Amino acid sequence: MSRVVVMDHPLIKHKMTMIRDKNTGSKEFRELVTEISTLMAYEVTRDFPLEDIEIETPITKMYSPVIAGKKVGLIPILRAGLGMVDGMLNLIPAAKVGHVGLYRDPVTLQPVEYYCKLPQDIAERDLIVLDPMLATGGSAIAAIQFLKNSGANNIKLVCLIAAPEGVKAVQEAAPDVDIYLGAIDEKLNDHAYIVPGLGDAGDRLFGTK
Ligand code: PRP
Ligand code: URA
Repeated sequence: MSRVVVMDHPLIKHKMTMIRDKNTGSKEFRELVTEISTLMAYEVTRDFPLEDIEIETPITKMYSPVIAGKKVGLIPILRAGLGMVDGMLNLIPAAKVGHVGLYRDPVTLQPVEYYCKLPQDIAERDLIVLDPMLATGGSAIAAIQFLKNSGANNIKLVCLIAAPEGVKAVQEAAPDVDIYLGAIDEKLNDHAYIVPGLGDAGDRLFGTK
């Protein structure tokens, strides 16, 4: 069964409160999502292996650790996942970015795929799937399945807010994928929106409502 890691850092909790507030406008919302994503990148990369290399300080030679040849791929689920890319790149600047375009049909709630473009060497990369909202889990599961069908074998999922229903669905569909969350909320409402949540993440990021 996959691990579920819920962030407990005060800075993340503070910024999460700000993005939930309906009076926070798109500019501030985008900046906060970037900042939270940078803070989450710190946690998501915690298990990256290290190797010692020899360097020379101004005083003497020493062996000192560096990240051991990790190749990372960031995979935002369009649209809203785009809001998390810059924050992650702040800490993992050499990552390649692949895009998975999905939207949730408002009636069936099923994910509909409309665009996908991945780095060629996806099988060799540690992939970090980005989406602010994990509601029913349908979009995340479809994205993970698409990545696996494309050869990926090492995937993590990073979301800002999840419903318990979505976490359970992803764990059942992809028990090998660890899930990193800013918060787990109470439930889904009748329209499969997360309660209390933050509303429609894409609309709030891009000002489309
Ligand atoms: C939102 C969100 C997730 C999805 C979550 O995207 O960004 O991708 O819904 O819902 P689920 O867990 O029930 O699948 P949306 O479909 O609204 O598209 P958008 O990002 O283009 O706004
Ligand atoms: N998508 C969103 O943007 N918000 C939700 O609460 C659920 C799905």
